[in-house]
Amino acid sequence: MTTSSTTLKPGDMLGGYQLLLPIGAGGMGRVWVAREQGVLGRTRFVAIKTALSENAATEGYWKVLLDEARIASMVQHPNVCAIHALERERGVVYLVMDYSDGGSLRELLDALPEHRLDFPIAARIVASVCTGLHAAHELVDAEGTPLGVVHRDVSPQNVLISSNGQVKITDFGVAKARGQIHAPTQTGEVKGKLSYMAPEQVTTKDIDRRADVFALGCVLYEATVGERPFQGEDALATLYQLLEQPVRPPSERLQGYPKGLEKIVLTALARAPEERFQTTEEMARALERWLASEGVIVTDKEVAELVKSTLGARIEERKNSIDSAAQAIETGAPLEVPVAPQPETLSGTSDNVVPSAGKLGKHPMRWAAAAGVAALLSLGVALAARGSKDPGPPPAGSALVSEPAKPAPAAETPTPADSERLVITLRAEPAHAILFLDDGPPLPNPYQASVSRDTQPHVLRARAPGYLEQSKELHFDRSKEVLVVLSKEPTLAPKPAAPRPTTARPQPQQTGTPKPAVTPTRVPGELPTVTRKPPRPLDPDNPFDTRP
Ligand SMILES: Nc1ncnc2c1ncn2[C@@H]1O[C@H](COP(=O)(O)OP(=O)(O)OP(=O)(O)O)[C@@H](O)[C@H]1O
Ligand SMILES: [Mg+2]
Repeated sequence: MTTSSTTLKPGDMLGGYQLLLPIGAGGMGRVWVAREQGVLGRTRFVAIKTALSENAATEGYWKVLLDEARIASMVQHPNVCAIHALERERGVVYLVMDYSDGGSLRELLDALPEHRLDFPIAARIVASVCTGLHAAHELVDAEGTPLGVVHRDVSPQNVLISSNGQVKITDFGVAKARGQIHAPTQTGEVKGKLSYMAPEQVTTKDIDRRADVFALGCVLYEATVGERPFQGEDALATLYQLLEQPVRPPSERLQGYPKGLEKIVLTALARAPEERFQTTEEMARALERWLASEGVIVTDKEVAELVKSTLGARIEERKNSIDSAAQAIETGAPLEVPVAPQPETLSGTSDNVVPSAGKLGKHPMRWAAAAGVAALLSLGVALAARGSKDPGPPPAGSALVSEPAKPAPAAETPTPADSERLVITLRAEPAHAILFLDDGPPLPNPYQASVSRDTQPHVLRARAPGYLEQSKELHFDRSKEVLVVLSKEPTLAPKPAAPRPTTARPQPQQTGTPKPAVTPTRVPGELPTVTRKPPRPLDPDNPFDTRP
C-alpha cells in the first residue's frame, strides 16, 4: 500500500489505526475518523489528524509538534481532548486523539438561527473549557518547574462537544507548530486566528496563559452575542479594532445582556493582561458564581440536548457513513478513492495570517500598515494555495465544467480501461468544503475517481461551515472536472427584536439599533473610518495600554 498524505483513503492503515472516513480539514491537514482494534475485540474510534507531507518534512515543524504533543499528552482532564499518539510514517505526520462524535462549538453556533447560545449554556461550555485549559496551564516537569503551556489557538473550532454533552478543548500546540512552517524570520508572519488573538500575541512578545484567557473572552462574547468582538471586513480592520478600538460591550449589541456575565466577558477581554482573570480557573469560578447567582443549573445533559436538537441529523448521518465505510472495508467493497493533495494545502484566510509586530515597531500607524501587509499576505497565500496552473475561479456560486479533464496534481489518476470508463474530478472551493455525490458518504475534496459511463443524472453537493450549500447536477457522459465555488453566508444584519426559544430561561432580544459600520468601503491603503480618540503617548513596552 502506498501511504502518503496525498493518497490516503478509507481502509488504509496508519500504525494500528484503520482510516474510515474523512470528516474535515483545517490548518494542519485532514481529520479522519479511524478505528483501533482494542482489547477483547472491542473497537475504539479515534480521530486522526494528518499533516501536509511537505510540512512533515520540515524538521522544525515536526520537532515543535512532537514537543507540544508530548506536553499535551500529559494533560489528563475530561475537558481536554486526549492525544494518544503522534507518529511519522512514510511522509505522513499524524496525530491520534479522542474522537468527539458531536461537533465543534463553531458548527453549533453556525447551526443556530442567531448564531448564539442561551447565556447559561454558553457559560457552562466556556467554564468547562476554562477548567480543561487550566489543567494544561498548570503542568509542571519532573522537578516541579512550570512548563508554561499556552494553547495559543483557543477558538470555537477547537472546542469539541460530543453528543453526550462533554466539552473538550483540542489542538494544543498545533498553532505553534504551524508557525514553524512559515518561519517568522523572512516575512514576519505569525499564525493564529486573528479574531481570537490577544493583543500581545500579535506582537509576538512572550505570551502566557493570559492570552488564552483573552481568547476565551472572545469565544464567550461570540457565543452569547452572535458576533465576534473584533471582526472587521478584512485582517486590516480586525487588527485595527483589536489594537486600537474599545471593545463594544455586549449589552450595546444585545438588549438585556446580563450585567454579571458582561463583567466576566469584559474582564477576560481587558487589553492589559494584568487586568484580565489571571488564570482560566479564576474565569471558570466567576462563571460558576454567575450561574449560581442566576439560580440555573446547567449540566452535560442540557448541553447534550442542545447538541442533539441542533446537530442531531448531521451526527446521525456521519454515524451511518462511518458504519457504511467500516462495512465496505470488511466486505471488500471497492474503496478506490485516491485523495489528491489539495485539501491538505494550508489555507491562507485573512483570519490566520498576520504580520509580526516584532519586525514593525510599535507605532500605531505602522501597525495599520502592517495590517495592510497582512491582508495582502493573506491574499497572496490564498492565491498561491489555488496553484499557479489554475486559471482562476469562476464567479462565486457558479459551477464550472472543463474538458478535457485536468487530473488533480499528484493524485493517482485512474486510467480509463476503455471508452466506457471515465475519469471525473470533483473539486470545491473553499478547500475545506466536503463533497457528497448522490447523497452518499462525505468525500474528500478534491475527489477523483474512475466511473462507468451512464445516462443517469448525478447530484454533486458541496458544504462548508460559513458557506451556502450548493448542489449541481452532473452527468457521467465524458471525463470531466467539476468545480463548485461556494458563496459565503451573508454576514449578520442587525436583528429585529424577536423572541427565540430558550433552553434555560427567557433570553433578551437583539437590539434594533443598527451596528455602526466599522469598515466602510475604502480605497486600497486607506485606513478604516474609526471612532476618534484623543491622542495618547505610547508606552513602548505596552503599546496597547489605552490609559492616558
Ligand atoms: N478529535 C476530533 N473529533 C471529532 N472531530 C474533530 C476532531 N478534531 C477535529 N475535528 C473536526 O475536524 C474538522 C477540522 O479540524 P481541524 O482542527 O483540522 O481544523 P479547525 O479546528 O477548523 O481549524 P484549526 O486548524 O485552526 O484547528 C473540524 O470540523 C473539527 O470539528
Ligand atoms: Mg482544530
